[in-house]
Amino acid sequence: ALPIIMDGDPGLDDAVAWLLACASPELEVLGVTAVHGNVGLPLTVRNAGITLTLAGAAGAGVPYFAGTDRPLVREAMTAAAVHGDSGLPAADLPPPAHPPQAEHAVDFLIRTVHARPGEVTVLATGPLTNVALAFRLAPELPGLLREVVWMGGSTTGGNRTPAAEFNALADPHAAAVVFGSGVALRMVGLNVTMQCIATPERITALRTLGNRAGRVCAELLTFYAGVYRTRYGLSGGALHDPLAAAAAVRPELLDWQSMNVQIETQPGLNFGRTVCDLYGVTGQPANAQVAVGVRDEAFFALLLERLGTLE
Ligand code: BDR
Ligand code: CA
Repeated sequence: ALPIIMDGDPGLDDAVAWLLACASPELEVLGVTAVHGNVGLPLTVRNAGITLTLAGAAGAGVPYFAGTDRPLVREAMTAAAVHGDSGLPAADLPPPAHPPQAEHAVDFLIRTVHARPGEVTVLATGPLTNVALAFRLAPELPGLLREVVWMGGSTTGGNRTPAAEFNALADPHAAAVVFGSGVALRMVGLNVTMQCIATPERITALRTLGNRAGRVCAELLTFYAGVYRTRYGLSGGALHDPLAAAAAVRPELLDWQSMNVQIETQPGLNFGRTVCDLYGVTGQPANAQVAVGVRDEAFFALLLERLGTLE
């Protein structure tokens, strides 16, 4: 199985993504690292513990770590309006079955990648602050990772500003470090994730799986649908982070194009934009494989099947 570290800011779609990954035999989850983002760090750490508990036996032995509580340069921002004040808007969540580790998330990342050079994938579904700090502390790390799969950015418009996607906007300087590092990188952006909607029918399918994981995901995605209906006029919430997890399990669910991507870190209208050279007009070498197409039905079938194997 592919050894993987999941770094994110749960966040209800991060939680669904992590459940998908824990339930996937193709992956060996080495640990989970929490970062600031959708809600503040104390809550993303707690939500990491709750999510691993929801994964049952598949999450029981997985250690989790607190990471960085703020962006590298800009002031912190959250998305509590989208994810609820707690980040996991569901009733009757189990308390974390095990506590977080004392080690810092960034130290864990560095230590683990050193122990298995060339093998480890990082699935990043939040602002890239932890990953960027690891790369700064250990400049050899990009060359020792198998791959970073990041949910973030867009080849088109943004969801937090017209130009910027939330994970990119929440720490553009960190994204610039990662995109400039030379690491093997896959970007799963809004141009594909906004095609993967948790419609009412899909929520019903999750609820009727008959297990706790399905019920909780249905409840989270019902809250999320309310937000997406009001904000974007869509029939449900976009499965951003679960699609990135699916890309780690089965990259062939998406179409990929190698290209040069630069992050706008100057203030102004395009702050936090992932500037994607779709047509190769700059002549700059590719630094990412960017998802440009997705098989949404096959993706959701995988999500449903895997969540159905949990408790
Ligand atoms: C991304 O932002 C967060 O709110 C979601 O969890 C996802 O990672 C989508 O823009
Ligand atoms: Ca996220």
